[in-house]
Amino acid sequence: MDAISVIRAKRDRGRLSDEQIDWVIDAYTRGEVADEQMSALAMAILLNGMDRAEIARWTAAMIASGDRMDFSRLSRPTADKHSTGGVGDKITLPLAPLVAACGAAVPQLSGRGLGHTGGTLDKLESIPGWRAELSNDAMMTVLDEVGAVVCAAGDGLAPADKKLYALRDVTGTVESIPLIASSIMSKKIAEGTGALVLDVKAGSGAFMKNIEDARELASTMVGLGNDHGVRTIALLTDMSVPLGLTAGNALEVRESVEVLAGGGPADVVELTLALAREMLDAAGLPDADPVKALADGRAMDVWRRMVRAQGGDPDAPLPTARERHTVTAPATGVLAELDAYAVGVAAWRLGAGRARKEDAVQAGAGVELHAKPGEPVVAGQPLMTLHTDTPDAFGYAVEALEGAFSVAAPDAAPAPRPIVLDRIG
Ligand code: URA
Repeated sequence: MDAISVIRAKRDRGRLSDEQIDWVIDAYTRGEVADEQMSALAMAILLNGMDRAEIARWTAAMIASGDRMDFSRLSRPTADKHSTGGVGDKITLPLAPLVAACGAAVPQLSGRGLGHTGGTLDKLESIPGWRAELSNDAMMTVLDEVGAVVCAAGDGLAPADKKLYALRDVTGTVESIPLIASSIMSKKIAEGTGALVLDVKAGSGAFMKNIEDARELASTMVGLGNDHGVRTIALLTDMSVPLGLTAGNALEVRESVEVLAGGGPADVVELTLALAREMLDAAGLPDADPVKALADGRAMDVWRRMVRAQGGDPDAPLPTARERHTVTAPATGVLAELDAYAVGVAAWRLGAGRARKEDAVQAGAGVELHAKPGEPVVAGQPLMTLHTDTPDAFGYAVEALEGAFSVAAPDAAPAPRPIVLDRIG
């Protein structure tokens, strides 16, 4: 077997055989296939695609490149959630403790943000003392004792994907449905969860800008999960406007705690409950009542124990940015549009996100919204507050927001958009 014949096969629109896939993933992980060869193959896959059987084999080979975790000794069924990422998507923070409070174990191996969408670990790291790195044994202990753990994925899980994702990131080959589906699912299957709920986002702030692509990605991932014995379903959800009223690390933690305290923005509460019901159902706990667990404070109790178990202080004040700038409504009427991508880029430029993996993020930076589409606004009222430690960033953030929102006459107000657009599985 050699890399050039595998590249040529896909370049010429052929199918890769099982043997070719197994060999190329293994040889790339061992360093025998060079980065430039894998880049060429990734580009050929992006341009010419892979069929379902090829994607399944590619995923299996990436799982086989590393360790598989085993949660079978836990007394509770496991359920996990994966979001394809969006602006203001802090749902993991209230969701993991809520589902744990209802009887499931939630092993949430998460990542850091890159580009305009935030990372769950960056958000939690804004809590004083909280640390993301746990050994496998420590993770099991937290899962056993608290019921939910959010931590960094260890290096042993799907190492082929780790290498390949970094390569795709710098070669313009991220946006391929077969490569995205196999990348996400190899990690989730290797993680060993029994049930998995996918939140596949569609809209300007998401990877998938249109619902057809989101649907194809979702059904590919649902098929891969179920074929590997993981009960998998997907919700397709709207990401054309930011989720909730905050985008930025500590700002999003604050909003998540509001949800756990029984308040918070309606869209965040609705999506948290929809995903919780799906996770509990898939975990074999269909009678659990997440509305009650949120209302009676059980979810908040698990949150506090979960934060403490990883060194964090749930009572410590969250960091705030040193400088603020207000963006006001240009007219009186109804807020008609608020583009998720633009808000994500603004938060990123303010310091909430990173451009390169090694960059640091500012805990207090981000965008706070004072109105969502469909709500009345008065000319001159604050529409957004921008937060940063580096005031030079205000100009770039305001630039990102140019044309991102509009105010319409009340009778021209847009119809409210549902959060959950479809369910697959
Ligand atoms: N997230 C992943 O883990 N992999 C991708 O390819 C895209 C998003």
